[in-house]
Amino acid sequence: MKHLLSAGDLTHEDALRILDTAEELLGVAKRPIKKLPTLRGRTVVNLFFEDSTRTRISFEAAAKRLSADVINFSAKGSSASKGEGLKDTALTLQAMGADAVVVRHHHSGAPHRLAHAEWTKGAVINAGDGTHEHPTQALLDAFTMRRHLNDGVGDLAGKNITIVGDVLHSRVARSNALLLHTLGAHVTLVAPPTLLPVGVEHWPVETSYDLDASLEKADAVMMLRVQRERMNASFFPSAREYSRRYGLDTARMNRLPEHAIVMHPGPMNRGMEISADVADSGRSVIVEQVTNGVAVRMAVLYLLVGGSTEGDTE
Ligand code: NCD
Repeated sequence: MKHLLSAGDLTHEDALRILDTAEELLGVAKRPIKKLPTLRGRTVVNLFFEDSTRTRISFEAAAKRLSADVINFSAKGSSASKGEGLKDTALTLQAMGADAVVVRHHHSGAPHRLAHAEWTKGAVINAGDGTHEHPTQALLDAFTMRRHLNDGVGDLAGKNITIVGDVLHSRVARSNALLLHTLGAHVTLVAPPTLLPVGVEHWPVETSYDLDASLEKADAVMMLRVQRERMNASFFPSAREYSRRYGLDTARMNRLPEHAIVMHPGPMNRGMEISADVADSGRSVIVEQVTNGVAVRMAVLYLLVGGSTEGDTE
């Protein structure tokens, strides 16, 4: 594996290797000194053309904990805002010797372009492209599920995962559906018909319009953010109507089996897709997802960048 572009590119074995490596690396985050020398002398560039808080910080923390040099590039305040395109930006970074490029872009397919056109020699990691994919989010979600539902070992065979809400605009939903399928889980997408993408019948999932029915058998429920910034039309009558049918409040949460967990990739619209009580409840693993994200991204960087020089096994 040279790049991480799509969750669908990961075999069962690849996925488990990343999750198992992340499990080991999670221990590092709990030490007083959170650093390993593995990527010393390597350069990781965070190339963010779209706003991001947690994903950018998470990749930065992950690279720094592995002792890499980190260059953060965000489109605002750079030549990208003067119209410099992905290609020239990438060539500039290549000239600086990037060993890995973590890219978030508003266009679906931008990381693939970067990797396949060979504008960079480094490993390309997709940190979210348009409405397409977000593979490290899917990995951290699977990692979090596995810890709660499977004691942190093996795959997710036979687990029922319900993903709810704005699937149409969500790269998280697509990456999760692909990865969870590879890991043996059974995925149900619940959304209003207007927020399911064309072609969803080709995804390895079931779809439903009935949230209550699918909660009763769920081992994990993942609420998606309603992505207003990607909506140029009205997809539902009102926020109140959306919450009533597709929001997770305490009454609905109580329909879940005892052991089930509540997830959200963040940022949340509290009161819209998830109530504040649910977000802050004992069943919510939302803060843990953020913590786990660093370990998973360390694992990805380690496996893609760490392997090929001497001295990296100290
Ligand atoms: C997601 C994203 O950017 O795709 N957030 C994230 O990476 N933590 C989901 C979202 O924006 O709703």
